[in-house]
Amino acid sequence: MTDSSDPDAQLIERLQLENESLRVELEETNQGVLALYAELDSQAEALRQASDLKSRFLSYMSHEFRTPLGSILSIARLLSDELDGPLNEEQHRQIAFIRSAAGELSDMVGDLLDLAKIEAGRISISPAWFDMLDLFSALRGMFRPIVEGDAVDLIFEEPEGIPRLYTDDKKLAQILRNFISNALKFTPAGEVRVSAQMLNAREVRFAVADTGIGIPADLQANLFEDFSQVDSPLQKRLRGTGLGLALCKRFAELLGGYVGVDSVPGKGSVFYVVIPHAIDAGAAHDA
Ligand SMILES: Nc1ncnc2c1ncn2[C@@H]1O[C@H](COP(=O)(O)OP(=O)(O)OP(=O)(O)O)[C@@H](O)[C@H]1O
Ligand SMILES: [Mg+2]
Repeated sequence: MTDSSDPDAQLIERLQLENESLRVELEETNQGVLALYAELDSQAEALRQASDLKSRFLSYMSHEFRTPLGSILSIARLLSDELDGPLNEEQHRQIAFIRSAAGELSDMVGDLLDLAKIEAGRISISPAWFDMLDLFSALRGMFRPIVEGDAVDLIFEEPEGIPRLYTDDKKLAQILRNFISNALKFTPAGEVRVSAQMLNAREVRFAVADTGIGIPADLQANLFEDFSQVDSPLQKRLRGTGLGLALCKRFAELLGGYVGVDSVPGKGSVFYVVIPHAIDAGAAHDA
């Protein structure tokens, strides 16, 4: 029993009351936090469902686009090969236009399908041993017709001290192809230089450096997001979907690495990808 005249007892009673109200307050806060957690959980679930739906929509849509696009391309090819009779100059020009537009569409559909597959976890990597030199010469061959007679030189530096790589060469080639075609697209004059070097004992860094228009610092962070494009006079002339770099980032992650960019507006850009020179089979997830 507390004696109200005892100052010690009064103090204890006050402390107990304070304690009790603190406890109640804490309990309420706790419940609030729990409720917030639950809400977050359900939002995360909703987001996951939305992203699933998006992936499925993308893959169905792009898949359905492929067949009609394929027929347009092959009929246009038949026509321009004049298998059904000769064409005049204007007709050739028009067919060439149809072919290039359909080709662009079909590239875009391919990119969308790749992205959807990655998001749905349906893309797996198939690593194999290969030589860097073969990769560079395949890329050189691929771009030769594009850079011939152009104001921009495409240079592949001799890779030195790079061992044979054990990774998915198709995915790596796809990343470099995207970097190179961007670099050529955004470089009115000068050169595009492709190089490879060991970053440390484990990782190799591939870089594509150009002397093009460059990218302002504040826009660099978002470049690797889907559909991200930088406004520029060049951009208005050149079409593209803004999916190339997003794909590069996903592919690099699949290979156990990362991508990045250094760029100075007006001077040029360096896009790079760093990957383990030998992918660890255990870590080589199918995501
Ligand atoms: N080498 C570069 N120099 C300057 N800007 C670049 C360079 N590479 C990329 N960019 C900028 O980043 C944007 C995104 O590139 P990304 O490859 O993702 O898309 P895209 O080339 O526009 O379209 P596509 O889907 O056909 O590749 C480009 O639109 C451009 O604004
Ligand atoms: Mg691109």
